[in-house]
Amino acid sequence: MNDNRLIIISYRLPFSFKTENRVTSVKASAGGLVTAVKSLDLPPSAPKPVWVGCADFSQRVWEKHKHLVNDDFEYVPVFLDKTTNKGFYNGFANSVLWPLFHYFPAYIDYHDDYLTAYKAANQAVCDKVVELLQPDDLVWVHDYHFLPLPMLIRQSQPSATIGFFLHIPFPSYELLRLLPGKCRSYLLNGLLGANLVGFHTTDYRVHFLQSVRLSLGFSHRLGTIVTPQTKVQTGTFPIGINYSLFHDASADEEVVQERLDLKRSYPDKIIFSVDRLDYTKGVMQRLDALEVLLKQHPDWIEKLVFILVVVPSRDQIQTYWERKQMIEQAVGRINGQFGTLTWLPIVYRYSDVTFSQLVALYTACDIALITPVRDGMNLVAKEFVASRQDQQGVLILSELTGAANELGEALLVNPLDEYEVADRLLYALTMPPDEQRQRMITMQARISGYDVRQWANDFIDALLTTQQADQTGQ
Ligand code: UDP
Ligand code: G6P
Repeated sequence: MNDNRLIIISYRLPFSFKTENRVTSVKASAGGLVTAVKSLDLPPSAPKPVWVGCADFSQRVWEKHKHLVNDDFEYVPVFLDKTTNKGFYNGFANSVLWPLFHYFPAYIDYHDDYLTAYKAANQAVCDKVVELLQPDDLVWVHDYHFLPLPMLIRQSQPSATIGFFLHIPFPSYELLRLLPGKCRSYLLNGLLGANLVGFHTTDYRVHFLQSVRLSLGFSHRLGTIVTPQTKVQTGTFPIGINYSLFHDASADEEVVQERLDLKRSYPDKIIFSVDRLDYTKGVMQRLDALEVLLKQHPDWIEKLVFILVVVPSRDQIQTYWERKQMIEQAVGRINGQFGTLTWLPIVYRYSDVTFSQLVALYTACDIALITPVRDGMNLVAKEFVASRQDQQGVLILSELTGAANELGEALLVNPLDEYEVADRLLYALTMPPDEQRQRMITMQARISGYDVRQWANDFIDALLTTQQADQTGQ
């Protein structure tokens, strides 16, 4: 990485504000993108990076409380009007692109005015970026909220160096073609404004290259697309985590205390999962698997607990609040069916957790049950592995996550097959400590070798290489 200033753009800023009893404080945002970007570790000589994002607070709140946010980034919130933000975020981003890119076509709710809002929001963010941009800056655009943004910036600043990283899957063309042709071309052309487009896995990258060829007619040569106006490189950069943060935290005093409390409250086997509220995370299927296990193996009744943490997310959108109701009904049903007067199989929490609570849960549990039906990467799986200084604990992981490519020593499952998941749960509940250790050691070695800093360095280095190649006309 060199000393150019980074301009980072994502929809979500890593903080928002909450006011309780008339006292305002800063609240951390949830999600993998924010976790990763805020762990970037730039060289001390690098200029302070600027992070542009969409505010979920008013300009008045920002002016009054921005002094509370004081860290390694300079923040530039963009204030969208309510209607634009709703059509952009709840509408096009999360009711069209999110379900489409995660292979949930039935959940797509397409409206032209959502696309209008999406375009308006991208233009507003572009205007802000262009206002800030200085000649040697590197622009790094993140995620599906901003597919058109690279081209918008390019049109206004032709010589800008622009990278784009997609944090979610890029679907096969069969899915993408569900979008009206004009809309599809607009989105793909938007990405072609970048010098470098990065994905978590080779599959996502190949899907993108095929979609560009089939929709726009541009072929690629070794992953580089050349159009009459631009040259775009593509790359695979599987995102990592801040490994040492999670590894070291398991010995923090607060974490140790929280872990002791958990172990005291739940002395039997602990199965744990944490996800944002999202239909892609497979929580219903997970609950079905637990039900199968308890039905088929009643000897485990009163001998285990499933701690299910669901972090509130996007709950203004129907498919999300409906999901919450479905989960809560299933939890109630299973607890009613198998619970006794002194024991319940599921401890359910609909809330975010603090960092130390999270690490205490990762390190107190016997099994992390991570079964999304589709996930671009899934950082929770990697955080669980990193936290286990004791080299114990079993990871059950969906094969439909990007993380499964790197975590082959987990018990990999198809999350839709509740009998397979129940069977793997049974295996995990009785896995000998030696086998747990062997699997954990190999996974730890792999993910500690490619952490979030390495990911960011690789992406920025590749972006700088594209810039140098452009300058030398290669
Ligand atoms: N996380 C969080 N708040 C919580 C619980 C978890 O921010 O209360 C973090 C978690 O540590 C992880 C991220 O949210 O870094 C979830 O990332 P993942 O890739 O697993 O899924 P995403 O939410 O991005 O779809
Ligand atoms: C995923 C997306 C991110 C998003 C996060 C949380 O990780 O890739 O772009 O920020 O989920 O979702 P939210 O809608 O709350 O930003």
